[in-house]
Amino acid sequence: MAAIIESGTTNSQSLSLNNIVDRNTIVWWALIGISIWSALTISPWGCLFWLFALILDDVLLYGFGKSMLFDSQLRVRRNYQWIGNMYDNTTGSGRDLGFNLVVDGKLSQRAKFEHMAKQLGLEKGMTICDVGCGYGDWMKYCRDEIGCQAVGINITPEQAAYAEREYGLEVHVTNWKDILTNSDLQRKLYGRFDAVTFMDTIEHYVSMEDRRNIEKQNKIYSDMCFFASKLFKQDSKSHRVFISCLHQTRKKRSWRFYYHAYFMDKLYSGHYPFVDEGPLVLCKPWFDVIELEDKTEDYRLTGVRDRKHFQAIKVKLTPKKIAYVCILSFLDPFVIHRLLYYKQDSWMFFYGDNPYSNEYDANYRKGVSYVLLYWITLKLKSQAFTNKH
Ligand SMILES: C[S@@+](CC[C@H](N)C(=O)[O-])C[C@H]1O[C@@H](n2cnc3c(N)ncnc32)[C@H](O)[C@@H]1O
Repeated sequence: MAAIIESGTTNSQSLSLNNIVDRNTIVWWALIGISIWSALTISPWGCLFWLFALILDDVLLYGFGKSMLFDSQLRVRRNYQWIGNMYDNTTGSGRDLGFNLVVDGKLSQRAKFEHMAKQLGLEKGMTICDVGCGYGDWMKYCRDEIGCQAVGINITPEQAAYAEREYGLEVHVTNWKDILTNSDLQRKLYGRFDAVTFMDTIEHYVSMEDRRNIEKQNKIYSDMCFFASKLFKQDSKSHRVFISCLHQTRKKRSWRFYYHAYFMDKLYSGHYPFVDEGPLVLCKPWFDVIELEDKTEDYRLTGVRDRKHFQAIKVKLTPKKIAYVCILSFLDPFVIHRLLYYKQDSWMFFYGDNPYSNEYDANYRKGVSYVLLYWITLKLKSQAFTNKH
């Protein structure tokens, strides 16, 4: 079985500042501008206006679910741009933005892809849609190793550009939610696929401000399942969806949980469904759940054993990366949050006790973790083509 460093391309992305001016940037500039103006004309304390505004915005966001200043969906793609600039080898060489399976004590991306292909019943000539496709490593595998046609959907333009440029893949740069109202994209994508995948992407679909609005959450996950059902062609031997998604357990929380969740949200933006919520429950009008697998230990151990992976990441600073961090401070309000996130290793906190243990113990982890990583295989119901949303 191939281990983590498998043959493949090495990701040598150049530093990117494209797509950086969006609504969030403009709001940040406005806050800095008002701070300078009020410091010069009202009081020197005015220079702290930006800090006051950020604190007030966080209180409204996390306390009352009201997003006043910044758009959290825009933060998703900004964070993947950050990852592209700050991490080494985020793609190729056996590493992607998901995780690897632990096989005979070693990490293997190949084993993961083989498992997914088997669950989906992929065969040569089939067409697959990967929603939230990252850099496209899974799609490349489907095309090169099985002979499928693979099409991606991704909110992050830099990743889509990589998949197109390096792998020659078709990727549509869009939030999948926008396809629900975009007839042009619907014409290109609906009714075209044998199989659909959502790999470690669903966690971003519900924003933190909506975490107490169960109706809104349910609508997003139902929309997602409806959307997936529309992607299928009528005659297919697969008609399956494969999902990899972090879920929250009902383990009792301490203040430290909320503290780390705050920094996690600032970096990745999103709210995980609880184990008894989300697509597992809301897919029912269109899909049957045919398999549910707990892969939390594979997910955790990928971070523990591969420190270039995104969880327990060790970022190697270079002059280029330091320059990026400095420039980004003037373009984005959350640079300090991101740096503190690394300092505290916030991600690993959610695995509960012994997060760095080298042992693979699924039962123990289930008992102590705040998160569980589920692999879910769905099968399209025969009446799904006629089911209304
Ligand atoms: C953790 S990465 C996983 C990438 C890839 N599936 C993999 O396993 O390597 C999450 C991906 O979801 C994408 N994404 C997040 N929200 C999205 C949305 N609403 N629509 C489309 N893509 C989205 C991000 O740009 C990113 O590529």
